[in-house]
Amino acid sequence: MKNTIATALALTMLTVSGMSVAAGTPQSKATVFTPPSEATIPDDEYGRTIRMGKNIFDDTQHYAKQYVGNSLNCVNCHLASGRKPDSAPLWGAYVRYPAYRTKNNKVNTLGQRIQGCFKFSMNGKAPAIDSPEMIALVTYAHWLSSGAPVGATLKGAGYPKLAKAAAAPDFIRGKTVYAENCQICHGVDGEGKIIDGKTVFPPLWGSTSFNWGAGMHRIDNAAAFIKANMPLSKGNTLTDQQAWDVATFVMSHERPQDPRFTGDVAQTKKEYHDEDCKYGDTVNGKVLGGSN
Ligand code: HEC
Ligand code: HEC
Repeated sequence: MKNTIATALALTMLTVSGMSVAAGTPQSKATVFTPPSEATIPDDEYGRTIRMGKNIFDDTQHYAKQYVGNSLNCVNCHLASGRKPDSAPLWGAYVRYPAYRTKNNKVNTLGQRIQGCFKFSMNGKAPAIDSPEMIALVTYAHWLSSGAPVGATLKGAGYPKLAKAAAAPDFIRGKTVYAENCQICHGVDGEGKIIDGKTVFPPLWGSTSFNWGAGMHRIDNAAAFIKANMPLSKGNTLTDQQAWDVATFVMSHERPQDPRFTGDVAQTKKEYHDEDCKYGDTVNGKVLGGSN
């Protein structure tokens, strides 16, 4: 019942600012929300399912192995167990679904949205909506959003949009930013670091990373994520220009094929990649998406 207070507070704030809570509300006017602390997970069946969801989220490699086709865990892109603002936190997501997505031209439930991250970001196969893994993940998200007003845009939800930098994003400049700020953890060849089967530093490109259909392969998404969250624990230290440049460099490397591949890169690009990305482009003499 603690949640009632949080809801009341949140609703008051909404009333005071007199704004609409529809998706697309500017972040500056969005509702501030703090997810509940881990110590308050109830000691019952709901609590056990919440914990299972958190385990899957943090160590997908272990707890949802059969659905994963790369070396990533959910937490690699949704930091601090899905709690960190500006890294598409689960509490920010929970209250904005069901939502219409142009990616599949349907209203998606949260479960369907998560299925997308399994298919593309985890380069795997989606667990069924009624599978124990999916139920646990949705339950964990439900609990993290306890007390948040349904349909609200919460401050820190999603990844913040990054305004275009002064100069057009550049691969060569990005390579230098990468060597100086990223390589130490993510490796010379973007391969990350995996020790005893545990992903210590996630791969950014190559066969063990996310595929060409994942949201992160879009340069605008990656630049926004990187600006707010990288180098690890030093978010917002790169300039906007550096974030755009390094995102361009990272997303100009080969990665697993888009699962929607039609058999032809140019056609797949036309059908699915009308966006800020390098799929199907020729970089250093190679067509991206063409070598796998
Ligand atoms: C390679 C990075 C990456 C990985 C790994 C990843 N995601 Fe995502 N996820 C994204 C991106 C990018 C978005 C789109 C965010 C946006 O549109 O603001 C997203 C969106 C989401 C959303 C919707 C967020 C919102 O606010 O609408 C949920 C929920 C989600 N992911 C859950 C998961 C789960 C569960 C896993 C693990 C099974 C996972 N993600 C793995 C990158 C990733
Ligand atoms: C100190 C080590 C470190 C440095 C330096 C660092 N990262 Fe990361 N990065 C991480 C870790 C760890 C994660 C996963 C976060 C987690 O699981 O909590 C991550 C996650 C990511 C992700 C999302 C996951 C994926 O596989 O795509 C991207 C993209 C990323 N980093 C890009 C960068 C870029 C670009 C730089 C340089 C500007 C950088 N990182 C610097 C440690 C680092």
